[in-house]
Amino acid sequence: MSQLEKRKAEHVRIVAEDPSMDRRKFYFDDIRLTHRALPEIDFKGIDPSIEFMGKKLSFPFLISSMTGGGDKLLKKINTHLAEAAEAEGIAMGVGSQRIFFTEPTSKSSFDLRSVAPTALLFSNLGAVQLNEDMTLQHAKAVVDILNADALCIHLNPLQEAIQPEGDTDFSNLCTRAQRERPPEGGAVTEGSGNKIGEIVQGLEVPVIVKEVGAGISVPDAELLIKAGVQTIDVAGAGGTSWSRIEAARCGDPALGECFQDWGIPTPEVLKSLAPLDVTLIASGGIRTGIDMAKAMILGASLCGMARPFLTPAMESTDAVRKVIQRIKREFVITMFLLGARTVDDLKGHEELILK
Ligand SMILES: Cc1cc2nc3c(=O)[nH]c(=O)nc-3n(C[C@H](O)[C@H](O)[C@H](O)COP(=O)(O)O)c2cc1C
Repeated sequence: MSQLEKRKAEHVRIVAEDPSMDRRKFYFDDIRLTHRALPEIDFKGIDPSIEFMGKKLSFPFLISSMTGGGDKLLKKINTHLAEAAEAEGIAMGVGSQRIFFTEPTSKSSFDLRSVAPTALLFSNLGAVQLNEDMTLQHAKAVVDILNADALCIHLNPLQEAIQPEGDTDFSNLCTRAQRERPPEGGAVTEGSGNKIGEIVQGLEVPVIVKEVGAGISVPDAELLIKAGVQTIDVAGAGGTSWSRIEAARCGDPALGECFQDWGIPTPEVLKSLAPLDVTLIASGGIRTGIDMAKAMILGASLCGMARPFLTPAMESTDAVRKVIQRIKREFVITMFLLGARTVDDLKGHEELILK
């Protein structure tokens, strides 16, 4: 087993076995919504479906990027998640596909269209690896193997800094975009200091830029928008703590604890990015359908969860489906109690927040 494969399996084991890897901050609990004793709608008439990136979803939900690899358990996790996403009409992201280039046996864990022919599926690569061994050709290859609808590029400077073998050269990923955006249709030259922009321009599918649990600030979002990114998954603080996970791996829990609360809480990120011209995916510590409704009110178009799906995915497709169905029911009941018949009645409607 390669070092990369070993690390992926370790992440899954640590997160699954140690509940404290979820920070359980419940930041959304600070937001109160206006209960309607007179919702003036028929519960049975509520329509939680949406369209996202050209596909219809039964409700605005995404199983966020987690894993993939040659290991039997990692394959099983992705198959269960993909089958459940297809059956429940939701979106799913796979974990970093860099491993695909070093572990040929990982291919089947990313080749998920046979079990999820119509689901909205997202590929995944780390931005920092664009400074190592990953190029536009690699990005095209990982999208092809999954036949993905979009590519997620993740930003994880905290995780890489704590990881003993982490890749920490985060330079030249988006800086040129700030100073000098190429004219409409103009080519961005190799090594221009805008490596994310090069992927956005060169790929045929949209690029989603995401964090992994520390959030995206306004200056970063502005850089990404200038680079042509149209969708950001905020992946803010409050849930899974990569600081804790990596510190547990390197046997230095004090380091993990020092940075465990680093980052911008998910509701704060949503509030700050909502005025910008970009589609937002909310994730990071979202744990219920009520949290989801709050995130949509704050401006999100789609909501993601990762950690709550790891244990069910290790078990079965049915276990994953049950969690999705529970979250959907919570979301629809919340819509009912707010008098919202459609998702458009929620999205951006800050008047639904109790002042
Ligand atoms: C076991 C595990 C593995 C993950 N691996 C990846 C990854 O490979 N790529 C990525 O973009 N995010 C990865 N993430 C981050 C999630 O996609 C998500 O952004 C983060 O966990 C916050 O969501 P949560 O609080 O619901 O877990 C991983 C999360 C978990 C729990």
